[in-house]
Amino acid sequence: MHASSPLGVAAGVAALATSATPCVRYPFPSPHVSPTCSGQTMLNAKQPHTAACGLTRGRCRPGRQSLIVRNALAVDLTAFLKKLCKPSPATHDASYAKKIMADEAQYVLQTYARAPLVLSHGLGSKVWDTEGREYIDFAAGIAVNALGHSDPRWASALVEQADKLAHTSNLYHTAPQVELAKRLVTNSFADKTFFCNTGTEANEAAIKFARKWARAGIDPYDPSATAPHELVSFTSCFHGRTMGALALTYKEQYRTPFLPMMPGCQLATYNDLESAAKVIVKGKTAAVFVEPVQGEGGVTPATAAFLKGLRKLCDEAGALLVYDEVQCGLGRTGKLWGHELYGVEPDMMTLAKPLAGGLPVGAVLLKQHVADVMKPGDHGSTFAGNPLVCHTACTVFDVIADPSFLRSVNAKGERLRAALRRTMGNNPHVKEVRGVGLLVGVQLDMQAGGVVNAARDMGILAITAGKGDVIRLVPPLVITDAEIDTGAEVLGKALTKVAPA
Ligand SMILES: Cc1ncc(COP(=O)(O)O)c(C=O)c1O
Repeated sequence: MHASSPLGVAAGVAALATSATPCVRYPFPSPHVSPTCSGQTMLNAKQPHTAACGLTRGRCRPGRQSLIVRNALAVDLTAFLKKLCKPSPATHDASYAKKIMADEAQYVLQTYARAPLVLSHGLGSKVWDTEGREYIDFAAGIAVNALGHSDPRWASALVEQADKLAHTSNLYHTAPQVELAKRLVTNSFADKTFFCNTGTEANEAAIKFARKWARAGIDPYDPSATAPHELVSFTSCFHGRTMGALALTYKEQYRTPFLPMMPGCQLATYNDLESAAKVIVKGKTAAVFVEPVQGEGGVTPATAAFLKGLRKLCDEAGALLVYDEVQCGLGRTGKLWGHELYGVEPDMMTLAKPLAGGLPVGAVLLKQHVADVMKPGDHGSTFAGNPLVCHTACTVFDVIADPSFLRSVNAKGERLRAALRRTMGNNPHVKEVRGVGLLVGVQLDMQAGGVVNAARDMGILAITAGKGDVIRLVPPLVITDAEIDTGAEVLGKALTKVAPA
């Protein structure tokens, strides 16, 4: 969080609630707070938290301090949150976490290898488990919680819209969807937005758009008519788990149990134009899917020559260039869009993870020539672009798109890489510290899982990537310098513990 960021004129703050705890209320009038609360209580005044104060609606969590700030003007949010960020007490004893994990095993389909902790609440870049242990969150829900946990602007937008209208389906118009689309289009290469709910759905939609675009010269409704339909993706890529996106995804262990895959997919080597040229073929290829910076694949940026070359190959072959910016888009690289690092525009771009700061959302941004082929009924989703998600996403977008915020992401990324080189670089198991912005990877010459587990025991949440040999760090974009330094230090200690130099 850049310290000078104003909250914005009407940005209210609502978060950090508690049950048996006092309400700390600030002197800003709120449309949601009853007259007993409205503008009457001065800063730091404490009163018992009661139903009458209007702060109970869905915002109270055990073990938390409670705060409501509405219509705040130019508040220094960092200082504001620091004041409130007190160690959180345990909400339960150890037996509670054990019971949750046992019930999870019994009732939830076992498709995840979860870490053995039960998270209870978060604030900024910190989360606490149910036993009161504090963690600095360098995972951020896999690059999702861009504004951290319980960001007051985010929470306020969510509550504000929940109070009005959460969901309508796409049978009707709603303003928040249009507002979000307007932001995405006016701040990118694109002319249109399509909304969905996840990253894999965004890629699934882009596959359909590409296939229909490629059939534009023929009668698209003639089942006997053929057109270019092949899709190209790259080694180490990750595009999602549903059948279309999965067919583009690299890792065989994700694909093989679900064979046969969608036909017509070609694989080339990432950052290797010669390899790409062999499979991007005029009359065959409909679209090329590429991540400007690979995340899951190991935190690997594309080279500028590669993306420029792909653009040329696509233009020559009459194919679409599609960027998957589900992980690297929207500020994570220190640019609004990852591809701005390269100055090469796509025909389509897929987005998801950070877009609504923790609510499920996905989007495809399209150039007009692609948008032109899609007609009502060609694609859709019940939940997509609902007012709750879109209104909240507008708030996330407005914070991230601020150039000074993006500059701060860049500076934090530099700081994190420098700190990691300092604390881990001397260990012979570290081959490279790399990445852009706050998408950072530490390449090891061994499996990274042991280090990630040891770091977790010491209060740092991180994830792996690549072949399991990369420590991936994708913290909230609002992480503080002190948290970065602590994280790097603890990761250094965790590595020494697991693999002494
Ligand atoms: C680049 C990229 N594309 C697509 C996806 C799939 O997104 P989701 O898990 O929301 O379906 C991911 C998820 O990690 C991703 O990193």
